[in-house]
Amino acid sequence: MKIAVCEGDGIGHEVIPEAAKVLELFLPDADYFDVSLGYDKWKDTGCSCSDEDIGLLKSSDAILFGAVTTPPNQNYRSVLLTVRHELDLYANLRPVIGDSFDIMIVRENTEGLYSGIEEAVAERATTLRVITRNGSERIAKAACTIFAERGDKKPLVIGNKANVLKSDVLFRDTCINVAESLSVPYRTAYIDALTLDVLMHPENYGVIVTTNMFGDILSDACGYLTGGLGMLPSANIGEKYALFEPVHGSAPDIAGKGVANPVATIRSAAMMLEHFGMKKEALITEKCIKKVIISGVCTPDLGGNANTRQFADKIYECIKEKISSDSIKPYNR
Ligand code: NAD
Ligand code: IPM
Ligand code: MN
Repeated sequence: MKIAVCEGDGIGHEVIPEAAKVLELFLPDADYFDVSLGYDKWKDTGCSCSDEDIGLLKSSDAILFGAVTTPPNQNYRSVLLTVRHELDLYANLRPVIGDSFDIMIVRENTEGLYSGIEEAVAERATTLRVITRNGSERIAKAACTIFAERGDKKPLVIGNKANVLKSDVLFRDTCINVAESLSVPYRTAYIDALTLDVLMHPENYGVIVTTNMFGDILSDACGYLTGGLGMLPSANIGEKYALFEPVHGSAPDIAGKGVANPVATIRSAAMMLEHFGMKKEALITEKCIKKVIISGVCTPDLGGNANTRQFADKIYECIKEKISSDSIKPYNR
């Protein structure tokens, strides 16, 4: 098993080592290798992610990814977008889970407003929002598969803005066709009103499928339900490759202070374990996260006064204890 580890920039350097330690507990024999990429690398070398880096990522069974800084500069394209594109990681799965709700946002991850087809001249800048039937079909199928696996009673929700955008008529109708062909109950909702309703009545939602940028905004907004961005994990899945990363970014405002919440990244590592079929291990990780937070040890964003290391250490110790008491054998792959 080969696991690429990318710290990236900012708090990526603080949270990734903590999540990697958790992976090492469950997968002690995996081959872990660092891949350095991001804005700091660009500042040092003039290149944020080389072909060789992409090759290294492609040589892995899974990637643990921190966050990268993307300056709002018209000549700089986010490394993350390059990686998602090069590895064709078309499904971005963003679970939002609390005591009374269990939502899975299925975000299309390769097209829409992130097509990269843009142009800026002095007085006018345009970005082309590309929606294709193929792109919509494959994300709708992914959402329907997840829907079936979960055995959801609540219908699949197709988040869109087809009242205004022609591109979303294609997205919505393609999703409807896929859902009907797979006998998945669905309803459609406009993304603006949907976002508010998810925040007000999260218990009414299960799987939500939507386009790239709507999914980006919806998933950050859902941080409101879970204690903030420090809590939300994600998986970026394609046919061949898989990348696991927190929903949050490099958080330059707190980077270097040692106070970043490691939970989103540890949960992303747990999603990687699930991807490898290690459901029990992912569950143990989740139980320990909850237990430690209830005990009052947590970072300031959750109202505590522990630092990243202290918080993550408690989670690590809890997992270690559970592994020995449940006599789970570490995987040997
Ligand atoms: P951000 O997610 O980095 O931070 C938003 C706010 O949430 C900040 O106040 C930050 O301190 C807080 N926060 C985020 N993660 C936290 C954690 N683990 N613990 C405690 N607090 C946390 O978003 P931003 O400030 O809009 O973006 C900063 C940079 O990150 C930008 O360059 C942006 O492009 C980039 N970004 C990268 C990714 C990624 O690589 N996956 C995702 C989002 C943003
Ligand atoms: C995310 C981030 C990225 C996105 C940026 C950094 C390119 O916000 O993963 O949510 O917009 O997809
Ligand atoms: Mn985002």
